[in-house]
This record gives sequence, structure tokens and C-alpha cells, in this order.
Amino acid sequence: MPKKKKKKIPQAETADRHLCYEQSVQCAEAEIDFVTTTFKQLRKRDVRELREDFCGTATVCCDFVARHEDNHAYGVDLDTDVLNWGREHRVNALTSEQALRVSLIEDNVLTAKTPKVDALLAMNFSYWLFKEREDLVNYFKIARESLKDDGIMFLDAFGGYESFQELEEEREIDDDDAGFTYVWDQASFNPINNNMICHISFHFNDGSVMKNAFTYDWRMYTLPEIRDILKDAGFKKSTIYWEGWDEDEEEGNGIYEPAEQGEADPGWVVYITAEK
Ligand SMILES: C[S@@+](CC[C@H](N)C(=O)[O-])C[C@H]1O[C@@H](n2cnc3c(N)ncnc32)[C@H](O)[C@@H]1O
Repeated sequence: MPKKKKKKIPQAETADRHLCYEQSVQCAEAEIDFVTTTFKQLRKRDVRELREDFCGTATVCCDFVARHEDNHAYGVDLDTDVLNWGREHRVNALTSEQALRVSLIEDNVLTAKTPKVDALLAMNFSYWLFKEREDLVNYFKIARESLKDDGIMFLDAFGGYESFQELEEEREIDDDDAGFTYVWDQASFNPINNNMICHISFHFNDGSVMKNAFTYDWRMYTLPEIRDILKDAGFKKSTIYWEGWDEDEEEGNGIYEPAEQGEADPGWVVYITAEK
């Protein structure tokens, strides 16, 4: 009797969505490099206490405490599942001494209580979920209060004329331990209030798809709006860090410098510092 062929389980059913997210979206190492270098430039001392709002898997917190024995990190997220994933995969990978210096707090960023920190991070545009201006002012006020007197808030933002469009972008993720296509889908955009809905999907080599693995329901804030709102929340100074250009590769070079003049590019990502 011919052997029955074993049915292969589609990759999309076994893949870990948080791992795919980290492999395609987040570069914790570059983020911490930027935060530590910029903090030192601005404050002439090292950043030692960091709070990561919307921390998700807490990779940034874990990488930060692994860098120096005096580093402490507080990660805030209201999703139990993502924090448990972070505990299992990221905190457990630290030494027991390093793990003692990370605290994961399951709470809303508006109510979470942490000791005052040198640097507070709100990355990957997560603060855009506050769609009303007054709610974003309120959040920035709370973030500012969580900083030491010379503390700095670090944010990022994206923009450019393509960010106002409904479109899909694909990128091959071809690391040693990953092989899939990351798809960023700007599914809807309302020019009246800049509200947008975006999805992230992962397409695997066997043809299977993890559709809408993550969905974001945001208001896309422009840079002048963000700076005005930071000012209204009491921050003394905000600075935009614009990415340099690699002429040979014809792409961003990963080096972000303070700027008052940007380029009218189709798409860009910046870092922002807000000094208390
Ligand atoms: C886009 S992910 C950001 C993950 C990570 N910080 C990064 O840079 O890639 C947004 C995270 O914010 C969390 N979140 C959404 N609203 C929140 C709130 N009000 N307070 C705390 N966490 C929140 C979600 O659970 C999710 O894990």
C-alpha cells in the first residue's frame, strides 16, 4: 500500500508573530545606540535608567540592561500576552543578575508608576494611538513627569508624501534564521483627520500568509504638530534627527543628525528628542 504523504503544516501556522515582528520591524541595537550616544552628547553623562513605554516584547529593555551593570530598565505595556512572551524569550535569556535590573509593568502608559528615569522611549510611532491632540498633550505631560530633571524623552516619527497614501510595501527578510516577506499595508487614510489604519502581514516561502498579524489604528502626526504638542506639554526643547544618505547604496545610512531642514522625500523616519 502506498504510504500516505504527511501533510505539511503551513509556516504561517507555526511561525511566531512576535519573532517575525522583531526580525522585520525592530532594531533594538540601533535604537539603544542612538539613545545612549545622543544622551551622552546632550547631558555629558551616561544614561543609566530607562523607561520604555509601549514596550511590547521588551527587547529594548533587555538589551539595555545587558550593556552595563548599572543599567536599569522599566518596560510598560498593557498587553499580558506580549509581556509574557518578552519574559519567556527575552528576560529569560539574560543572566539572573541582569534580569533583576528589568521590571516589566503591565499597565497603561497613562497610569504606570515608575521611578524617575534618565530616558523615556516611545518608539515605533506607538504614541500615535492618542488621536486627539489633548490626549497626546496629556500623555507627553505624564511622560515628562516620569523623567529626572535633566531627563530626555525619545520618540520616532515617519512621514513623506507616500505616508498619505493607501499602499502596500514589501521587504524580503532574509536573516540566517528567517525567510519571509514583510508586508506593510497602509489600508486606509483619512486626510480630514490624518487617521490611518495599517496592517503588518508576513508571507512565507511555502505560500502561506499570516495576514494582519498586527493592526494599528493611528493618527499620523506631522513633525510641526509633534513639536508644538511637546512644547504645550512643557518640554523645553525638541530636536529632529534626520537620517544621512549613502550615495553608493542609494539609501539611508543609519546615521541620524540634528536638523532644521529635511528633504521632501517620499518616505522618511526620524528620531525626536524632547528635553525636560
Ligand atoms: C507598535 S507596538 C510597539 C512595540 C515596541 N515598543 C517597538 O518599538 O517595536 C505597540 C505596543 O503598545 C501597547 N499599548 C497600546 N496602548 C497602550 C497603552 N495605553 N499603554 C501601554 N501599552 C500600550 C500594545 O500592547 C503594543 O504592545
